[in-house]
Amino acid sequence: MKTMIYKAIDLFSGIGGIRLGFVLAFKERIKFVYANEIDQFSCETYKANFGENPQGDITKVNLENIPDFDILLAGFPCQAFSIAGKKRGFNDIRGSLFFNIANILKHKKPDAFLLENVKHLVNHDKGRTFQIIKDVLTEDLEYFIHTKILNAKDFGVPQNRERIFIVGFKKNYEFKFPEPLNIDVKIEEILEEPVEESYYLSHEYLEGLKKHRARHEAKGNGFGYEVIPKNGIANALVCGGMGRERNLVKDKFLPNAWKKEGDDIQLRNEEGLRKMTPREWARLQGFPDSFKFPVSMTQSYKQLGNSVSVPVIKAIAKRMKFTLDNPIIIKIPRINGEEKKLLNLLEKMYSRKEFTKTGIKFISSIETFIENNYLRISNVNTLIKIMERYEISKIINKNQIKFHKKLVESPSREIFIKNVRELFKNSENQLTLTDFNLFS
Ligand SMILES: C[S@@+](CC[C@H](N)C(=O)[O-])C[C@H]1O[C@@H](n2cnc3c(N)ncnc32)[C@H](O)[C@@H]1O
Repeated sequence: MKTMIYKAIDLFSGIGGIRLGFVLAFKERIKFVYANEIDQFSCETYKANFGENPQGDITKVNLENIPDFDILLAGFPCQAFSIAGKKRGFNDIRGSLFFNIANILKHKKPDAFLLENVKHLVNHDKGRTFQIIKDVLTEDLEYFIHTKILNAKDFGVPQNRERIFIVGFKKNYEFKFPEPLNIDVKIEEILEEPVEESYYLSHEYLEGLKKHRARHEAKGNGFGYEVIPKNGIANALVCGGMGRERNLVKDKFLPNAWKKEGDDIQLRNEEGLRKMTPREWARLQGFPDSFKFPVSMTQSYKQLGNSVSVPVIKAIAKRMKFTLDNPIIIKIPRINGEEKKLLNLLEKMYSRKEFTKTGIKFISSIETFIENNYLRISNVNTLIKIMERYEISKIINKNQIKFHKKLVESPSREIFIKNVRELFKNSENQLTLTDFNLFS
């Protein structure tokens, strides 16, 4: 077992939640050589806990100022979602914050990376944004990646927070994401007691929320205020909007919580409903109570809403450490004669000029192609397996993958053609082909 100390960099570091997870997993075997964060208040919290000030704008950083390192960490902001439409390659992602990560990977070629984002990234722009990100990482930068959505509640904290994680290695190493821990956690385990009176909603504010909810419900809409039962789990912490109101808790009624004198004294609600404290939010994200927040309460909530669930990161980091310490290269199975023939056919199929942009013409092209090549249905199944193995389907988006699945299920050539027809009947599928330009 190697005992090297891994050098890491922490991009879009926020308050350092990802860093903390890695420190807990790697212990003294990790050294942070660089961190970057644009927000001044997040930097203050980072400095109070890790001793370094990461202040800076990643779009303005000179690559030469980043020391060499082994592991890149980045919980990049949703602004990366501006990668949309027809963009595909490395040069097309310029102007997005994801480009800055990709560019550092390109020039520094670290052994491994972990990227984190909201679950919605996977479906954004019908899955194309995520596809672009994966294409850039695998095809342009030649990394081997593993992706998975994990939920904080499966890793010992009572918060329903789903996030997408992308782990990458320079080599095709074996890697497994951590399994859920199956620990039953409840919100009451992280509540502080007692909390200051100011966390209790004022009588007036609660009445306002109730009226607002009634109006929304009458229109059939949901409205984001929610009381989490003591044996329940919190909604995902978010930094804006109704973040705090979506995670109210019912505490003891405060008999002395109103006073009759003074102008700005507020009457507290009679139900004991209160917001959670920043420390409770920190616990929901798995930060230890020793973690310092030298900033205002508003900033603390914002920073925690933006941060990560530390136990999830720690669990992933442990697996990454295991892979880096014990690297096993996954071997691609050898192809036999029949598969080779089909692979050639497939290449031909993609390069044929007569494959056209519309779904209808595509069907007839595929029919002709099958006729011309005497493709039997058993071959079609092998062909799909090859496409999957060589990740040819990687360049094909969700609808087309559905199309391939349908092919596998086709018991005969006739049904296969019928399935193809059905799948390409609706405009969404035609649009997909047009946009991807694969067959033009
Ligand atoms: C989703 S948060 C990451 C939080 C972090 N993982 C944590 O544990 O606190 C994204 C962060 O990117 C920062 N950011 C946005 N644009 C940036 C830029 N141009 N340069 C550096 N940081 C930036 C934001 O201020 C925010 O803190």
